[in-house]
Amino acid sequence: MRKVQVVLYGVGAVGSLIAKYLLQKKGIKIVGAIDTAEDKVGKDLGEILGLNRKLGVQVSDSLDSVLSKVKADIAVHATSSFLKVTYPQITSVVKRGVNVVSTCEELSYPYNAEPELAKKLDTLAKQHTVTVLGTGINPGFLMDTLVITLTAVCQRISKIKAVRVMNAATRRVPFQKKIGAGLTVAEFKHKIKDKKISGHVGLEQSIAMIADTLAWKLDRIMADPVEPVIAEKAVESASVKVKASEVAGLRQTAKGILQGKGVIVLEFQAYIGAEEEYDAVTIEGVPCVKQRIQPCVHGDIGTVAVIVNSIPKVINAPAGLVTMKDLPVPSAALEDMRRYIKTNA
Ligand SMILES: NC(=O)c1ccc[n+]([C@@H]2O[C@H](COP(=O)([O-])OP(=O)(O)OC[C@H]3O[C@@H](n4cnc5c(N)ncnc54)[C@H](OP(=O)(O)O)[C@@H]3O)[C@@H](O)[C@H]2O)c1
Repeated sequence: MRKVQVVLYGVGAVGSLIAKYLLQKKGIKIVGAIDTAEDKVGKDLGEILGLNRKLGVQVSDSLDSVLSKVKADIAVHATSSFLKVTYPQITSVVKRGVNVVSTCEELSYPYNAEPELAKKLDTLAKQHTVTVLGTGINPGFLMDTLVITLTAVCQRISKIKAVRVMNAATRRVPFQKKIGAGLTVAEFKHKIKDKKISGHVGLEQSIAMIADTLAWKLDRIMADPVEPVIAEKAVESASVKVKASEVAGLRQTAKGILQGKGVIVLEFQAYIGAEEEYDAVTIEGVPCVKQRIQPCVHGDIGTVAVIVNSIPKVINAPAGLVTMKDLPVPSAALEDMRRYIKTNA
C-alpha cells in the first residue's frame, strides 16, 4: 500500500511547521512544495526547514510543473487568510484532481462572506471528484467545531459565548506582526485602517458555522472594531520588543444577532505578555455548559495538528467543498496515516 502523497502549497511559517510534523509521521510522504517567495524558490525543502539534510524536494513557484511530475493525494495549502486571494490557487489544485486542506481562514466557512466563490469552488471540486476543506485551530476548531460539539448535550440554548486569550509571544512571527505587536497606537490604527495588518480573521466565519448548525437564522453578524491592547509595562517575545504604552496585541469581538440579542458572542485576545491564557466556552441553556481549557491550546501546534489530522478525513470525504461541521467527529490520526484512509483499508 503506497504512502499518502502530499504537496505543500505555501512553505511559510505554518507550512514549514506542518512539513516538519509530516516528516515525523508514518505512511505519508511530501512529494512536492510550492512557494513564490524569492528566497525559497529553487532550494531544497530540507534547507527551507533548517534541517541538516536534503529531502530531495525542490521548492518550485509553479504548481503545474510540480503536479506534472508527481501524483499527489492532497495539497496542504497555507498562503493567505482571504478567499479572494486563495481562490485561484486552490482552484488550480482542484483542476489537477488533487484534494485540498487549507489554513485559509475565510475558507473555513465561506458561505456568508464569499457565497459566489463558495458555490463555484463546490461545483468545481465535484466536477474533479476532489474535496476541499478550510480549517485550523481558529477558525476551524476552538471557536466553532468545539463549540458546536458542546451543544450536543443541550436541550435548549439561549446564548453561546467563547473567549480565547493567548500570549502572542509563543506564536510564530507572522502572527505577532498580524496582531500589531510592537507598533505605536497611531501606527496600529493606520495599519488596521489601510488593511496592512489584518488582525485575527475568522470570527464571522465561526459564528456563521455555529448558527447554521443550530439552524438559527441570524439577523446579522456584527464585528466590533479591532482594539489595540496597550502594554502597561515593557514586554517582549524572542522577536518583538514592546515598550510601555505601545501595542502588545489586540482584542476583537464579534456577535451573532438574533431578534436584537447577541446570541453568539466570540471574543479573541492575543497579546505579548498575557498572563492568564485560556479557551472558555459558556453555553447558557438547559443544561448550562461551562468549559475552560487552561492554558489555552497552543495556536501553532494546534493548527498543525488539526490540518494533518484532517488529511484522511478530507481524502475519505465525498467530493465538494466541505467544512468541519460536515466531516466526521474530529480526532487525532496518530498511527500510520494509511490506516485512516478508507480506500486503502
Ligand atoms: N485557520 C487557522 O487556525 C490558521 C492558523 C494559522 C495560520 N493561518 C493562516 O495561514 C496562512 C499562512 O500563515 P503563515 O504564518 O505561514 O504565513 P507566511 O509565513 O506569510 O507564509 C505564507 C507563504 O506562502 C507564500 N505564498 C504567498 N502567495 C503564494 C502563492 N500564490 N503561491 C505560492 N506561495 C505563496 C508566501 O510567500 P511570500 O512571503 O513571498 O508572500 C509565504 O512563503 C495565513 O493566512 C494565516 O493567517 C490560519
